Amino acid sequence: MTIEEKLEAGKRLSKLDATKHLKNDEKVMGDNDFIVSKTDTKGFITYVNRIFVDMAGWSRAELIGANHNIIRHPDMPKIAFKIVWDLISSKQEFFGFVKNLKKDGGYYWVLAYITADEDLNGNIIGYTSFRKKPSRKAIETLTPIYKALVDAEKSGGMQASYELLKKTLNATDENIIEKYNELVFNLQKG
Ligand SMILES: Cc1cc2nc3c(=O)[nH]c(=O)nc-3n(C[C@H](O)[C@H](O)[C@H](O)COP(=O)(O)O)c2cc1C
Repeated sequence: MTIEEKLEAGKRLSKLDATKHLKNDEKVMGDNDFIVSKTDTKGFITYVNRIFVDMAGWSRAELIGANHNIIRHPDMPKIAFKIVWDLISSKQEFFGFVKNLKKDGGYYWVLAYITADEDLNGNIIGYTSFRKKPSRKAIETLTPIYKALVDAEKSGGMQASYELLKKTLNATDENIIEKYNELVFNLQKG
């Protein structure tokens, strides 16, 4: 089946197909590895590299055509992905630490860079992401922060987690992305 036929047939895996059996089992990225994927404008995967397949545990055939949320981990707050889509759909770059779900229920952390692919006229034709190994300090610092954001979302929705993120970063509506990026780069420095 070609990618086009798969997308046409709607045979796309999504986070609903990912395992429900979460395991506290971390797979750590290699020091020199890069995980690469590309999506169409709606976030359906069109390309993955070999390291992506190795880390996520899904086959290339399963991943191509699937929604990128197939590797969404429930420990990730929704507000993180709102920031992703707000930035990339307005042609700005996203940098951030993401906990991803493996097919077997385990997880792996990445430092992700996501950006829009544009044609010659500046129309967005898809998105590309590169990820590298995150610092241990970033994972340790962000685990409780992400948990607090997820808890805030359970009780008060995304507005509550947005307010909490603003407070955590000591930010305003105007400088929240700047402050967020500062935190990301400082955490990666270690
Ligand atoms: C190029 C690209 C790469 C992405 N990479 C990831 C990723 O590694 N992990 C992830 O959970 N979401 C990733 N996303 C975001 C997903 O599209 C989605 O917004 C997220 O998983 C939350 O899904 P949900 O809103 O359906 O719960 C990526 C999106 C794009 C466009």
